[in-house]
Amino acid sequence: MSANTANTKTTPRKLLALCCSPRRDGACAAMETAFLEGLDKQISIARYSAYHMEPIPCDDCRDCLRHDRCKYSDLDGFFAAFQEADIFLIVTPVYNMSLPAPAKAVTDRFQRYYNAWKAGRNPPKPKRTVLLTASGSGETDGALHIAKMFRRLFTVMNTGLAACFDMFETDTVPVDLAVLEDIRRFAETL
Ligand SMILES: Cc1cc2nc3c(=O)[nH]c(=O)nc-3n(C[C@H](O)[C@H](O)[C@H](O)COP(=O)(O)O)c2cc1C
Repeated sequence: MSANTANTKTTPRKLLALCCSPRRDGACAAMETAFLEGLDKQISIARYSAYHMEPIPCDDCRDCLRHDRCKYSDLDGFFAAFQEADIFLIVTPVYNMSLPAPAKAVTDRFQRYYNAWKAGRNPPKPKRTVLLTASGSGETDGALHIAKMFRRLFTVMNTGLAACFDMFETDTVPVDLAVLEDIRRFAETL
């Protein structure tokens, strides 16, 4: 099967969602719900919380340069789901212009794919990534920084950033229903 046919709507597809907010009822939760509402019901969903996984930070041991693995097993389930996913959803609040610490730890653990690329090993299955961010303020720098970080990271991982949706001023105004609708509509196209 070619990479193209693997991504058609007729083939069973898998979504991996990485949820990076510690809050269950915040803006990130609302955006994730909107996305999942719009998604084709045939798509199977694996959902992981960066906070619940309590990821060990990457310590640059470079074991993954020599072997197709991470020496720490805490993210094995998450990485297995990443390998299988056709769509990767990242939902995150902006903390101090960047990712919350557990989400940054998960992101740094993607170093195994960078090192696999450096070592000439096969990249993971191609996938489309969707990034949803929530910023308490109206400042755009944090959301832009996060998007830039993932764009750069994904270049060696067979993964394109298909779309980003950002919600701003979440600390002062109610959730932006127009952004939720945009997210829902985009998810319908996947
Ligand atoms: C530790 C911390 C740092 C934050 N830093 C920023 C920031 O740099 N810029 C910003 O716009 N909002 C910042 N915020 C606000 C959050 O981005 C905002 O409340 C967001 O909506 C949280 O999403 P959630 O409720 O879905 O978790 C910060 C919040 C916390 C707790």
